[in-house]
Amino acid sequence: MYDPVCGIAIDGEARFASEHAGARYAFCSRSCQDDFASDPARYAEMDPLIRLEQVVKTYDLGEVKVPVLRGLSMRIHHGDFIAIVGASGSGKSTAMNIIGTLDVPTEGKAVIAGKDVMRMTETDLADLRNGKIGFVFQQFNLVPSLSALENVLLPKTLRGAADAAAVKRAEKLLESVGLGKRMTHRPSELSGGEQQRVAIARAFINDPDLILADEPTGSLDSETSGKIIDLLSDLWRTSSKTVVIITHDPQIAANTRRILTMKDGRLVSNGGAASKAIWPTA
Ligand SMILES: Nc1ncnc2c1ncn2[C@@H]1O[C@H](COP(=O)(O)OP(=O)(O)OP(=O)(O)O)[C@@H](O)[C@H]1O
Ligand SMILES: [Mg+2]
Ligand SMILES: [Zn+2]
Repeated sequence: MYDPVCGIAIDGEARFASEHAGARYAFCSRSCQDDFASDPARYAEMDPLIRLEQVVKTYDLGEVKVPVLRGLSMRIHHGDFIAIVGASGSGKSTAMNIIGTLDVPTEGKAVIAGKDVMRMTETDLADLRNGKIGFVFQQFNLVPSLSALENVLLPKTLRGAADAAAVKRAEKLLESVGLGKRMTHRPSELSGGEQQRVAIARAFINDPDLILADEPTGSLDSETSGKIIDLLSDLWRTSSKTVVIITHDPQIAANTRRILTMKDGRLVSNGGAASKAIWPTA
């Protein structure tokens, strides 16, 4: 049985359990039980956006096999704002690559936006990724020779010319991240925080359901980090997107709606750690 809120596998007798519509649910913690009680339909009746069950990822280095994910079970629900935390090497980026369809599990089940990734071709995975997922990385990953506007448009131009509507959308996104006056600047003419804003605008260009950010503030000073997190938080609140941030920063994690902690390639129960942030009402 899986915790319907965080997705952790529950073995044996559950300390936390509830009934809803005649079915019994078990939870890893009081926190997940309370979340469920506050909105049972969200968790019991809607498919989560992400559902990982017993995901194993092993890197095969010839002589040695490196087990990285060792039965990772996790759920992320539509519209949630999640921090994934855990020690270096605990498998956070590996998990994000699977959630983002950049990689597939060695074993186990991964259902992303209703699609079982183990049954999909490379092309189908790429379509899912391009259409539904926006990425933000620690190193911004902007193209140095392109302007801010062209970088935001890149996911469009890679698949053919950007039309007027796309350009308009890119301009609006740059305005919404506070860079309306920096559209023609190249990355080298922008500060680190500004570059990350461009990357965030780019992540939104295809109107994805899911934004995945791996250490988005890892290269920024603490004041700039705070602004980037405020921005992501505002974008989460005003869009209907699901936002997942991998971070080492407890301050950042505390500003999300729910913290998932990884250890040795699994999720560990995180009772009571969900933050005060509430679901947007829009
Ligand atoms: N392509 C690969 N081949 C072999 N081992 C890998 C590969 N990618 C990752 N690993 C190993 O998998 C483990 C988990 O890596 P991962 O990048 O997921 O950790 P992480 O939690 O994101 O760590 P950090 O906080 O340092 O970014 C590490 O021990 C790493 O060395
Ligand atoms: Mg990592
Ligand atoms: Zn739980």
